[in-house]
Amino acid sequence: MPESAQKPLYHLGDGIVLGIGSRDTQLIDLKTDGEIRIDFRFIEPLEKVSLGWSGEGYESFLPRLLQEGVIVHGPATTDPVLKTKLAALDRLYLTAYEAALSPRARRAYELTLEAHGRRKRFFTRVGQCPTLPETTLRRALLVGDAAEVGAKKILCVGDDDLVSVPLAALGHDVTVFDIDDFLLTFLRDTAAALGLTLQAVEKDLRDPLDDAERDHFDLFLTDPMSNRDCFEIFLSRAFSLVKPGARGYVAVYGPTERLFREVAAEMKFPIVAWHRRHNRYYSQYMKIHTYESDWVEIRRDAGTVVKHAANEFCVPLNLYAEQFYQRHPIFFGFYDEIEEPRFATPLYLDMILDIAEGNSPLKLTARHTILGQEWTVIHGSTDDGHLTVHVDRARRQLTMTLFPMRAESEDVLRHAFMSGYKPKATQAKMSSSRDVWDLRIR
Ligand SMILES: C[S@@+](CC[C@H](N)C(=O)[O-])C[C@H]1O[C@@H](n2cnc3c(N)ncnc32)[C@H](O)[C@@H]1O
Repeated sequence: MPESAQKPLYHLGDGIVLGIGSRDTQLIDLKTDGEIRIDFRFIEPLEKVSLGWSGEGYESFLPRLLQEGVIVHGPATTDPVLKTKLAALDRLYLTAYEAALSPRARRAYELTLEAHGRRKRFFTRVGQCPTLPETTLRRALLVGDAAEVGAKKILCVGDDDLVSVPLAALGHDVTVFDIDDFLLTFLRDTAAALGLTLQAVEKDLRDPLDDAERDHFDLFLTDPMSNRDCFEIFLSRAFSLVKPGARGYVAVYGPTERLFREVAAEMKFPIVAWHRRHNRYYSQYMKIHTYESDWVEIRRDAGTVVKHAANEFCVPLNLYAEQFYQRHPIFFGFYDEIEEPRFATPLYLDMILDIAEGNSPLKLTARHTILGQEWTVIHGSTDDGHLTVHVDRARRQLTMTLFPMRAESEDVLRHAFMSGYKPKATQAKMSSSRDVWDLRIR
C-alpha cells in the first residue's frame, strides 16, 4: 500500500465550497453565507483537499482548519448541503417531466445530482458555470438510453456540466476532453464512487489533435463560451473528432444566435434542431444563474469545413468572453428624506442641471419640465440617452435616472444634489450589475 494511502484524509466541510475567479478566490460557507478571501498560495492545497487529501506539507494548518470546520476528517463524499440546495433548484423544472422518466432515467438523475453534490470547487476563470443537474439529465435524455438507441461512443468537449455522468449511467461509452485537470480527477473519482465507467482525458483544444483520435466518435456534446473564437475552436475540434455524418449538441447563448448562424454557414454544418432556453445554470452560491442558453443539434456533413485544421495550433484572442451586443448600464439614484423640499422646484433643479452641464460631459439637447402640486419631473434628452429627475416633495424623495451611466456626469450631479438636499446624509448603499447601477442615500 503506498504511504499516502495510509495517511488520514480530509475534505472540505459540509456547505464549504472553493470559488476560483479571474480576480479573487474565495472559500464560501453556504450555511452562513460567509466568505473568506484566499491568497493564491493556498489555492492548490484547497483544491486538493476539496477532492479528499492528506494535507501533506500543510500539516501545521490542519488543526486550525479542522477547528474552524473548513475541513473535516474522511475521504471526499457528497455534500448534503449542496445536494439539498441543488435538488430544490431542480424541483422548479423537474416536476414538469419527472413522472415520465423511466427507472433508468430516474437513476441517471439520482447519480447526476450525487455527482453535482460532490463538486466543491468552481473555476469561473476558464468560463465554467455549470448547468443544473436536471438540465444535465435532459441533455443526456436527448441522446437517449443505450438500451433503446444503442450504445454510442460519445465525446464531451469540455464537461464542467458533468453530462458524462448521466450518459454513462444510460449505458454509453463516454470520453471527456477538458483542459482542467482538477475536473478530470473529480470525474474519475466520482465515476468510481458511483460505479460508472468513463474516460477523462486532459486536453487543451487549442493544441493539435492526434491522428489516432480523428473520425472516432459517434456524437459530441459541448458548451463553449458564446463567442466566435470559442465556437470556431470547440466546433472545429469536435467535427474533426467525430465520424462523418455524426450528430452534435452545442449550447448557444440566445443573444449570440446570429453569430452562431454565421459560423454554421461558414463552416457549412446543418442546424438540425434548436431547443430554446433548454439549459439552466447555477452559481457557486447554489443559486440559479441569470445566464441560460439554447441547446442546438447540429451535424457533421460531407461539406462541413473546420476553421482550425486538426494538426494545427489555434491562437484565440477571446476565448472566455460572451460576445453579444452589450447594452450600456443605466444609473438610478434615490435620495430619501431630502431636506428643504420647498427648494426642490423647477427653478432650483434647473440650476443644478446647469451646474452639471457646465462641469461634466453631460449635454442636454432638450429639457422638459412637468409640474404637479407636490412633485416635479425634469426630463432631459442627450444625444444617446436621457437624464430624468423626479422630486416628490410630499414624500421628500428625489430620484434620478441617467442613461447611459457616465461616472463623470453622475459624480457632479451627486455632489450638487447632496449639497442642496442631503447635507447631513447618514447612509449610502450602492449596488451594480452588468446593466444597472443603483445608489440609495438616506
Ligand atoms: C468553455 S466552458 C463553458 C461552459 C459553461 N457551462 C458556460 O456556458 O458558462 C466548458 C468546459 O470547457 C472547458 N475548457 C475551457 N477551455 C478549454 C480548452 N482550451 N480546452 C479544453 N477544454 C476547455 C472548461 O474547463 C469547461 O469544463
